[in-house]
Amino acid sequence: MARRLRIGIAGLGRGSHFLPALTSWEDTEVAAVCDTDPQMIEKVKDRIGRARAFEDYSEMLDSGVEAVLVATPMYMHGPQSAEALRRGIHVFSEVSAATSLEQCRELVAAARGSSAKYMMGENCCFMKPFALVRNMARAGLFGEIYYAEADYVHEVRPFPGAERWRDRWLFGRRGGTYITHPLGTVLDWLDDCVVAVNCVGTGAHVDREKDNDDTSIMLCTTSKGALVKIRHDQMSPRPMTHNYAALQGTNGVYEAPRHGADTHRVCLLDPAEKIDVSGRKWESLWDYEEYLPDYWRESPESEDAHGGSDGFTLRAFVDSVLEDTQPPIDVYRALDFTVPGLMSELSVRQGGARVAVPNFRLM
Ligand SMILES: NC(=O)c1ccc[n+]([C@@H]2O[C@H](COP(=O)([O-])OP(=O)(O)OC[C@H]3O[C@@H](n4cnc5c(N)ncnc54)[C@H](O)[C@@H]3O)[C@@H](O)[C@H]2O)c1
Repeated sequence: MARRLRIGIAGLGRGSHFLPALTSWEDTEVAAVCDTDPQMIEKVKDRIGRARAFEDYSEMLDSGVEAVLVATPMYMHGPQSAEALRRGIHVFSEVSAATSLEQCRELVAAARGSSAKYMMGENCCFMKPFALVRNMARAGLFGEIYYAEADYVHEVRPFPGAERWRDRWLFGRRGGTYITHPLGTVLDWLDDCVVAVNCVGTGAHVDREKDNDDTSIMLCTTSKGALVKIRHDQMSPRPMTHNYAALQGTNGVYEAPRHGADTHRVCLLDPAEKIDVSGRKWESLWDYEEYLPDYWRESPESEDAHGGSDGFTLRAFVDSVLEDTQPPIDVYRALDFTVPGLMSELSVRQGGARVAVPNFRLM
């Protein structure tokens, strides 16, 4: 029988979504769960077999788990991940990786000093269309990519209770407070990171008591000189479009649908043909399925709450631990996706001034 990786899950809201995969794979075992709210533990009791249940995170880490899935409120991710890494426990952290530069420093120091692996579970990078576009981009089909944009437009404000941590960390600060989904997607395509950000916002109109602008726009300059525009909006009353993204290169363009009736489309320059600009036309992205990563080819019908991506994201982490390889979104990549959002808060408070984004590889 395959060796089973003993995993603990902290935070049983989002964390419980990973139970079906972890309890069905042959090489994983849910050895422990943890939530400070006993009712949350009660809710999963019949799905966790003989796993031990804890209300204290540190006690769970001491119980013999080899890896931990950190799905607690956002401001706990950095410190809890660092605590696990310091004990040599592998970490799969929910997004975002951290909520301050101080937390980022603590996380990087812990990862550098640890033999354990760290991965941030940015699931949008594993979504079928985005993973396909990534491989097309890496194969050069779009030429030199100089512009990309993506939205996270998701009316989270009226979620039940809009739990206190969301009020503080999503709506109680300005700038891109939850942008790893859109930014991670496009940085993965560009194989690049952000060096500076300008951010402006609309101000708060929908709920004037919140600090976060209803919409903020981040304009990011990347190290390769590309421009990336990110719209962040968790307030506006409207259907969600949190999977809109697009890119433009010297050889072509990709655009995701903004809503269900639309399609994923590309227009690529055929170097063999001289096309009159008036002859440019859209093709379906799915005509390029040969560029899909293997995990999507092998499980074409994969489905979960996030278009099949959650299982593949978690699988990449488990494989990296069991095969001792580098996780696809390691601590530095996690901070590439996270830190521009933290710096955008400074920019928007300075009326959109350009703010440099630190690269933690160099610190
Ligand atoms: N990647 C994605 O698509 C995605 C989707 C949803 C949520 N998330 C992220 O996952 C995280 C959790 O989101 P959620 O919707 O489940 O939030 P939630 O507030 O519903 O659940 C968080 C849980 O953590 C528990 N908790 C609080 N402090 C704890 C501690 N010290 N130790 C253990 N448990 C503790 C709470 O009791 C609660 O049950 C958030 O950071 C969120 O941004 C990511």
